[in-house]
Amino acid sequence: MPSDTASYHDTVRNVYRDAAITPAANLCCVPQAPRYLPGLHIPDIMYDMNYGCGTTVHLQDMRHDQTAMYVGVGGGLEALQLAYFCRRPGGVIAIDPVAEMREAAAKNIALAAETNDWFDPSFIDIRDGDALHLGVDDETVDFAAQNCLFNIFKTGGDLERALGEILRVLKPQGRLVMSDPVTTRPIPQRLQDDENLRAACISGALTLDEYLGQIVSAGFGAIEVRSRKPYRMLDARTYELDSDLLLETIEVAAFKTPMPDDGPCIFTGRDAIYTGPDETFNDGKGHLLHQNLPMPVCDKTAQALESLGREDLVITESTWHYQGGGCC
Ligand SMILES: C[S@@+](CC[C@H](N)C(=O)[O-])C[C@H]1O[C@@H](n2cnc3c(N)ncnc32)[C@H](O)[C@@H]1O
Repeated sequence: MPSDTASYHDTVRNVYRDAAITPAANLCCVPQAPRYLPGLHIPDIMYDMNYGCGTTVHLQDMRHDQTAMYVGVGGGLEALQLAYFCRRPGGVIAIDPVAEMREAAAKNIALAAETNDWFDPSFIDIRDGDALHLGVDDETVDFAAQNCLFNIFKTGGDLERALGEILRVLKPQGRLVMSDPVTTRPIPQRLQDDENLRAACISGALTLDEYLGQIVSAGFGAIEVRSRKPYRMLDARTYELDSDLLLETIEVAAFKTPMPDDGPCIFTGRDAIYTGPDETFNDGKGHLLHQNLPMPVCDKTAQALESLGREDLVITESTWHYQGGGCC
């Protein structure tokens, strides 16, 4: 590992060692209430140690019989939420390289067992490991998640390695669900190089296009952008910028499906609507639109339909809140 790369990982580990010992409510992430799950009581300490910037727990991904892997366990909140669905020993593998964070998570999880009679700490297998070297066998995981970790990794090596590791351990058709900050314009290099800002999920963010590009380059054949909203403002005064810089937080799912010949299917919340006189419109590529009924389409299909230049086809803009259904 080159020395500058090693040093930023050391800083990251130090930041999260401290955050494990002394919960830091304002560290890195957005004050967003965790997803409510009936019958799940979350210990207060897990709220204080919620270092995520969105959620990776979406009902459409949850299966009781799947093996889930959570990278960067933090205080254990989302591992507990995943265990709510798996409910069996070892159903959730939770990985973290920081011993103090693993210890804190284990303690919080034991606490959760006291107030959730359906839950046993054995449901979560907390392991020493690293996103860059997961130590998990090939194609053994159905569902993988990381929240507010991959944005810290530098491109040109680490981020690619982390995504490649996930792809390796996922079974075919498996999925990776992530939440991370992205930036609305490139972050100046001097801020990107500030290891403490990077560790705190402030300055490592990519633009959304770059972020999605990394997922595609890793080999995921389909992507869903499920949420996109403001995360932080890097104000011009504090960060010595020409103008304020808005960071956003996104929730994304990436699927280990074969890459289509004509490129990935990326769903960003666009719909196609046929408004012509017939009952249906068939584009000849497997997409059947019913008159006046919106059909969710991936960006590739949206662009192909737009290129037809037909007045009886309405293609809506991205909502960035795709919730399933549609083409591909
Ligand atoms: C921003 S926190 C997010 C914690 C948790 N995902 C959450 O949402 O609360 C980053 C987590 O990743 C862990 N971490 C740091 N470097 C890591 C690495 N190289 N591989 C895996 N986890 C790492 C930290 O110890 C910490 O638990």
